[in-house]
Amino acid sequence: MPDRPGAVLVLGASRGLGRAIAVAGAEAGFAVVLGCREVATGEPTAARLRARGLRASAIGVDVTNYDAVAAAVEHAVAFGAPLVGIVNNAGIIGPLAPIEATAPDAWSQAISVNLVGAYHGTRAALPRLADGGVIVNLSSGAASQPLAGWSAYCAAKAGLAMLTRCTHAEHGERLRVYGARPGMLDTDMQAEVRASGLGPASRIAQRSLGAPSVAARAVAWLLGVAPEDLSGTEIELDSVALQLRMGPLPGGAA
Ligand SMILES: NC(=O)c1ccc[n+]([C@@H]2O[C@H](COP(=O)([O-])OP(=O)(O)OC[C@H]3O[C@@H](n4cnc5c(N)ncnc54)[C@H](OP(=O)(O)O)[C@@H]3O)[C@@H](O)[C@H]2O)c1
Repeated sequence: MPDRPGAVLVLGASRGLGRAIAVAGAEAGFAVVLGCREVATGEPTAARLRARGLRASAIGVDVTNYDAVAAAVEHAVAFGAPLVGIVNNAGIIGPLAPIEATAPDAWSQAISVNLVGAYHGTRAALPRLADGGVIVNLSSGAASQPLAGWSAYCAAKAGLAMLTRCTHAEHGERLRVYGARPGMLDTDMQAEVRASGLGPASRIAQRSLGAPSVAARAVAWLLGVAPEDLSGTEIELDSVALQLRMGPLPGGAA
């Protein structure tokens, strides 16, 4: 992993994949800002990283609030300028129900968090990102695969994939932007999927889900290497092709 000093803002870093990305990013040498709805949910992770001599800070930010997202970007710039990356990770899976059974407010909230939240992160970061900076949008197979009972999530992630492409079309000369598909991970989100009892995805055993730390390492790689040829595309983080390209873990582990 090349040494690219600078700040990375991770939105939705309180738990699950976002927290793992913050840890992997700090271990890769970035000054990481954990953007969490409640700052108290990010501060313990930031404190543990600082105790290891790594650079980390937490800030309270709800991604549905543009002013809060813009303030988090400014915090990241002040904390570890230049800003070299933003990770639009905040997400919610629900409402999980057939369309006619969904509450309109809940459906709208899913779009607000999963799609508008990533737009907010992109909108606020674009004027502040250094040349060669990286935007990672946490995507999903649901962006291109319709799943019964998942309409809000699928629609939001499909929109997010187009936002990735549009951002690349506008800024691909100067920046890199990736739609990162992490595979099915053992996080609270998958616990919600299992509890829903909806479709085959709810019957996937917890033991067969991937570790957030593995996907997080791939996101840190994207932030560090910023591969030009992958910008504007959807990337399967658990693909053999990407793992081969990333190479072995430091220390020789698989
Ligand atoms: N897990 C999977 O199998 C999987 C597969 C494909 C894609 N993904 C994507 O990966 C990302 C992370 O998923 P995960 O599995 O780690 O989910 P998770 O365990 O449910 O965590 C979701 C994170 O998003 C945050 N969040 C939710 N609403 C927010 C808001 N309005 N403002 C700020 N933060 C907010 C949560 O904060 P709080 O703690 O405050 O709620 C939490 O940190 C999501 O974008 C998801 O769609 C996950």
